[in-house]
Amino acid sequence: MIKLLIDFIQFLYASAPLFMSLAVLTLLAALLSKSIKRHATVCYIVSAIPFALVTVPFIGRLFGTEIFNFSRIPFLGGIIRDYIHMGTLGFPLLIIIMYMGALNPKNSIVKKLLGIRKELSIISGFPILTHSLIRVTNNFPGALKFFTDNGEYMANTKVTSVLGAGITSFSFVLGILMLALFIPLWITSFDFVHKRMGNIKWKKLQRWSYVLYAMLFIHAAGIQAGFMLNPREREQSKPAVEVSATISETHNGRNRGNSELQKQDDRDKRKDRNTVQAVVDSVKQRDSKAGRTEVTQPAGNSRHQPGRGFAEIKVDAPTKRCIHTVSLFLIFGSYLYLKLRKARRKKQQ
Ligand code: HEM
Repeated sequence: MIKLLIDFIQFLYASAPLFMSLAVLTLLAALLSKSIKRHATVCYIVSAIPFALVTVPFIGRLFGTEIFNFSRIPFLGGIIRDYIHMGTLGFPLLIIIMYMGALNPKNSIVKKLLGIRKELSIISGFPILTHSLIRVTNNFPGALKFFTDNGEYMANTKVTSVLGAGITSFSFVLGILMLALFIPLWITSFDFVHKRMGNIKWKKLQRWSYVLYAMLFIHAAGIQAGFMLNPREREQSKPAVEVSATISETHNGRNRGNSELQKQDDRDKRKDRNTVQAVVDSVKQRDSKAGRTEVTQPAGNSRHQPGRGFAEIKVDAPTKRCIHTVSLFLIFGSYLYLKLRKARRKKQQ
């Protein structure tokens, strides 16, 4: 039963990671709200560590010094990669912060989360800055080229859909505007800046966060749409021969942009495969210890071993991308609905 549950959670996490991270982080933030409030500085320092571990080698490289690549360290490397991709921490945190303004503040969980909204905003800044640092360096120059020197861009890349490349490039360029907007919003979240600014000015500035949320949706949905129109090799059903330069090669001229992204994705995929293999091996080992031999199940046999079912379901990359895109529409769509409803109620009162 427990194995079935674990498999099911793993399956959900593999197919809808954003929803799952959102659920887990909301739960953790609500449970730990008091500790986060009390030990805010410690939380900031801990969440700044992966950012520092990306920034220091990055600056070192700018000055020609090769500093150890911390993303190679097993567990820590995973966190650093997550900071770069915004997946499990940065994006869900932003969504939680965003939703707090649209939900009923009298609800006990919302109340708890509202009490640490500032702290969560500051924590979310570290993955966002890490992501931006890497993406501005790797993806932005190529994306800009799509608009400034389209001829050269197209000559050096083999995208299958120009529209897709355009949407992706636009989303990347939009990232720069988001960064420009995010930095003042983030800095003014710190108490000492807030106090110096005064509440009226601060509130006026914070209203720009709605623009940031709208841009965030366009950025995320645009990137997904672009990747759908220019699927990466592993996302195509037939073996890709010619299309070795899909969207991954389109950014930053001849391939610095998403190739790093693709390599990372491939590494993640290999890791996933290894994990699945390890689970399968451990189940086989357990079976052989128990003296069971592997018997091929007749087709249609419904008495399949419980728990193995979910572990065996493989969701392919295009399906995952579709689920992710639908999640984005659901999350941002329901936020808009809740926010408008709240505003209407406020007006009526
Ligand atoms: C405030 C600044 C930024 C925020 C909040 C932000 C947010 C995000 C989020 C949430 C995702 C994940 C989308 C998804 O899972 O559907 C994402 C992906 C991406 N962003 Fe940004 N972004 C920012 C700045 C930038 C900048 C400046 C660039 C540079 C071009 C950029 C390039 C990318 C790329 C290439 C991806 C897809 C690959 C990946 O997951 O890393 N972003 N961004």
